[in-house]
Amino acid sequence: MENNVCIDINSKATDLINKLAVLFRTVQIHDINNVAVVSSVNNLMELTNEMVEMEDQVELELRGDYFYLNDNRIKYSMKFLFNFEHLTKEFRLLGLGSITFFNKVSVADLTLLTEAIVRAYSSNEPYNSIVDEMISSDCIRLGKILEFVEDESLDIKEMVRKKYFSAVSFTQGVMKQIKSGEKVNLKKSKRMVATLVDHVMEQEQLVLGMTAIKDFDEYTFHHSVNVSILSIALGQRLGLSKKALVQLGIVALFHDVGKMDVPDEILNKPVSLTDDEWKIMHMHPEWGILSVLKMRGLDDLTILTALTAFEHHMNYDLKGYPQMRNALNQDLYSRIVSISDNYDAMTSSRVYSRTAMAPDEALRVMMDKAGSRLDPLLLKFFVNLVGVYPIGTMVMLDTNELGLVYDNNKQSISRPRVIIIADNKGNRINEYIVSLMEKNAEDAYKRSIIKTVDASKYKINLAEFLL
Ligand SMILES: [Fe+2]
Ligand SMILES: [Fe+2]
Repeated sequence: MENNVCIDINSKATDLINKLAVLFRTVQIHDINNVAVVSSVNNLMELTNEMVEMEDQVELELRGDYFYLNDNRIKYSMKFLFNFEHLTKEFRLLGLGSITFFNKVSVADLTLLTEAIVRAYSSNEPYNSIVDEMISSDCIRLGKILEFVEDESLDIKEMVRKKYFSAVSFTQGVMKQIKSGEKVNLKKSKRMVATLVDHVMEQEQLVLGMTAIKDFDEYTFHHSVNVSILSIALGQRLGLSKKALVQLGIVALFHDVGKMDVPDEILNKPVSLTDDEWKIMHMHPEWGILSVLKMRGLDDLTILTALTAFEHHMNYDLKGYPQMRNALNQDLYSRIVSISDNYDAMTSSRVYSRTAMAPDEALRVMMDKAGSRLDPLLLKFFVNLVGVYPIGTMVMLDTNELGLVYDNNKQSISRPRVIIIADNKGNRINEYIVSLMEKNAEDAYKRSIIKTVDASKYKINLAEFLL
């Protein structure tokens, strides 16, 4: 029972973000008595009171780039990305860190809050101005935004993060167009992928870090972008030209396009699929070839895209699906995509109710498939790319500290940079980044990895550290 309540309140979190974002937006264009403001106040009141009833207290807090509802991080929803980003911006502008509803609210309470917000926009000290006006409220409390330490790498990180999210929403858009039968052409996708290629070339590890964060809604679109990024990065290690990397990025992005024809009930089924459902799922390579061939303008790129969509589950030894009587070997791009696809699917939890595997464990499983399912030579390059300890792996150090792999170091793949998250007694600490290449005065390494640890046991939220 308690669990149900928990799920319920979290499902309302996005709703709360949307309604607040709408309120913040409407008060900036309309007068407080305007019907749009009044109706947005009413909507917000209904929702918050419902939530207060469920949880007693509803605290919406902005920490870094994320909103938390009663300490649970709210999943970024691509569909409402605009509202998420808008509300984040407004909170920051006003110096606001949290809004807590600790009792049911009336229209008058919310009108008071709305007026306070409006006045804060024209105040020199917006946060103090809001708090002063709300000080005697018996149902709404406000908190100040926490200052984050400025870090010089933050700008680049922010840029990579934005590019990643815009790639996902772009992909979602194109896939939906394809699904609805619109004739898309690959030109725009080519432009989008070309910038992804640039980012991978300049910031390989940062971009790879984005693919390590898996707890998003809309698995299919994140998966497509992840497979594209991983394939580009692998292609780069193989020395492919930029033109080839763009082609590879495109074919990888659309490898699962055939899944758009799989009914949503099957695609998003939270429990294991039945045999019949698997049969339908296994049609996606054939359906993929058909949707690609329906795209506008048939050229080399569309043909390559169709080929990979068709071949990516055939396996290196051609014993996968679809089964062909006289199959030729898998194309190079298909073999690359198979590897990235396997890795991303295994380390994600949203596929067919499977639990996510730790990245290093996924690599071990993949090594067992070298020569059968996966191309053994390409796999070697892949292991070199993601490292023996891929980004996001939780590791125990010889100092007894606990760390998360932050990025890999080309010179020595067993000595990545690590975010220290717990001290030698296991206490959570304010995390900081160290390089395992660091040595002490005796020329010995300060820290080394002794083993990997199952991150799921520690309730660690990777996104919090890597974004
Ligand atoms: Fe697939
Ligand atoms: Fe896939």
